[in-house]
Amino acid sequence: MTHQIKSLAEYKSAYKKSVDNPEEFWAEQAETFTWKEKWSSVLNWNFDEPNIKWFEGAKLNITENCLDRHIEDRGDQTAILWEPNEIDGEVKKYTYKELLSEVCRCANGLKALGIGKGDRVVFYMPMVPELAIGVLACARIGAVHSVVFAGFSAQALADRINDATAKAVICSDFNKRGVKNIPVKQVVDDALDKGCPSIDFVLVHKNTGDQIKIDSKIDKWWHEECDEQSEVCEPELMDAEDMLFILYTSGSTGKPKGVVHTCGGYMVYSCYTFKNVFQYEDGDIYWCTADIGWITGHSYIVYGPLLAGATTVMFEGVPTFPDAGRFWQICEKHKVNQFYTAPTAIRALMAKGDDIPAKYDLSSIKMLGSVGEPINEEAWHWYDKHIGKGKAPIIDTWWQTETGGIMITPLPGITDTKPTYASYPMPGIQTLLMDADGNEVRGNNVEGLLCVKFPWPSILRTTYGDHERCKQTYFSTFDGMYFTGDGARRDEEGRIRVIGRVDDVINVSGHRMGTAEVENAINEHHNVIESAVVGYPHDIKGQGIYAYVIVDEEGVSKENLSNEIKAVVTKEIGPIAKPDKIQVVHGLPKTRSGKIMRRILRKIASGDTSGLGDTSTLLNPDIVDSIKAGAI
Ligand code: WTA
Repeated sequence: MTHQIKSLAEYKSAYKKSVDNPEEFWAEQAETFTWKEKWSSVLNWNFDEPNIKWFEGAKLNITENCLDRHIEDRGDQTAILWEPNEIDGEVKKYTYKELLSEVCRCANGLKALGIGKGDRVVFYMPMVPELAIGVLACARIGAVHSVVFAGFSAQALADRINDATAKAVICSDFNKRGVKNIPVKQVVDDALDKGCPSIDFVLVHKNTGDQIKIDSKIDKWWHEECDEQSEVCEPELMDAEDMLFILYTSGSTGKPKGVVHTCGGYMVYSCYTFKNVFQYEDGDIYWCTADIGWITGHSYIVYGPLLAGATTVMFEGVPTFPDAGRFWQICEKHKVNQFYTAPTAIRALMAKGDDIPAKYDLSSIKMLGSVGEPINEEAWHWYDKHIGKGKAPIIDTWWQTETGGIMITPLPGITDTKPTYASYPMPGIQTLLMDADGNEVRGNNVEGLLCVKFPWPSILRTTYGDHERCKQTYFSTFDGMYFTGDGARRDEEGRIRVIGRVDDVINVSGHRMGTAEVENAINEHHNVIESAVVGYPHDIKGQGIYAYVIVDEEGVSKENLSNEIKAVVTKEIGPIAKPDKIQVVHGLPKTRSGKIMRRILRKIASGDTSGLGDTSTLLNPDIVDSIKAGAI
């Protein structure tokens, strides 16, 4: 089993070794897994192309490590504990043995339908066990999964299917979420109507049983294709550097890009970080509230926990249904030991009052994790006091879709914690701060741009179908370094606090959103001539979306404009990208070369109209006063 750090001295020595002798360090971790063939070299890399290869020559299947190798020791232990949307609904438990059987059945079903190694399969599913089963089934047969968060629109889904040239979509009929019943299959139908020529079939899981339209030419039922299949499926032999999955994420320009992770390195790092960051012990019940549509769900609901032989809770519903006590009710009911959620959820629940968590017995909780966005001090203290009762360390984990696993974090009971600080790099993670001129910012009590100068096993390998974009986005800002896109500060004692994005990416309720993406969606409205989107501080969401729009005055009904724009954005991307504030303007502040001065727009959106700096060099300086006057 993967090594677990147990003391500060061990953390320090692991860190030192990982820097002094990274290949030996990671080879030792990798030795703890089942490989069909060992690697010929641990690491080959350059950050220029970039070209990064871990455990080259090794052969494995990640599902054998998630499932088969646990059967002997913990075959009857619960692997996935599923809590339904309805508070009185039936909890489902899959032991490791049962999960292996289900995964094999699904894998055989997919094979029979013509899916093979290297084929891309898109998932558009709610948080039901079949999502985890399907993802693992793909990995079993070497197909590449690409999970699309089921809150995205048909257009966004079609874009991702086409970018990945996926052969199949796996979805559910409907999705019960809070009081809603969402027509999931209908969204897939709408996406395919937009034209997805690579799709051979849609595999539909009967979830709620509500009526759906079935097209006998392309729609297949999961239960018909998979249930009768054999529960034995030999794992496909994969190269360590074969693709495991693609996950789309937003960047500062253009369409979302498909971040590519590969089998070997991702396996080693997701398991290593899971064991260490959560200090998981046999018998613990671990719960991460993320959705499998995001990287957190991939690494810390599915792969990390299963690789480590843990019991991982999967929750179908929302934190506020039937009331704002649901998370705490689930923690009490299943005696959750490690709880991992996002600051936006903490803030939303904090706003409902301290008396709600006080009703539940939360004494099983040993540590509390936070992920996805900076956690503000107030939320940190509330989480500590009202959920952890001052006894469960707050583990603020910083990482990204591109990093595959947790990068900077305290370790519970091992390193200290400090509100708003992700604190210390994991072993193997060589972070540094840079200034805008490309010089390293040394010493403590400083700020800079967060970079990593050495590869770790689960660093992204490419962006699907466009390697140049990967290079430009992450490896070109600073020579020989991976640039995260985040700004950070280092305190007097070397702890790191990640402040937020320094590019045109905003973080709304822990969801990454490119401002350009939202602008493109808004511009689809027939009356919109131009738009500019920025983030602004929002009490619950962390950042809200503020849109400045220029419209042609004719034919615009002011009352409806805002609703119409929100509807267009919902159609193009999904409700998560809906602007919170929309201000109609007559122009946007632009430089003489035509670049929008977002700095000014961000300041105005944040309610701070003082000290906008020198605006005299703008093409249209007068516009600033009128935007200020109309600010919402
Ligand atoms: C932000 C989520 C501060 C950051 C795992 C990063 C954070 C982006 C933290 C990645 C944290 C994530 N403190 N900021 N603990 N965790 N972020 O790809 O801006 O959805 O670049 O991955 O979220 O978001 P992503």
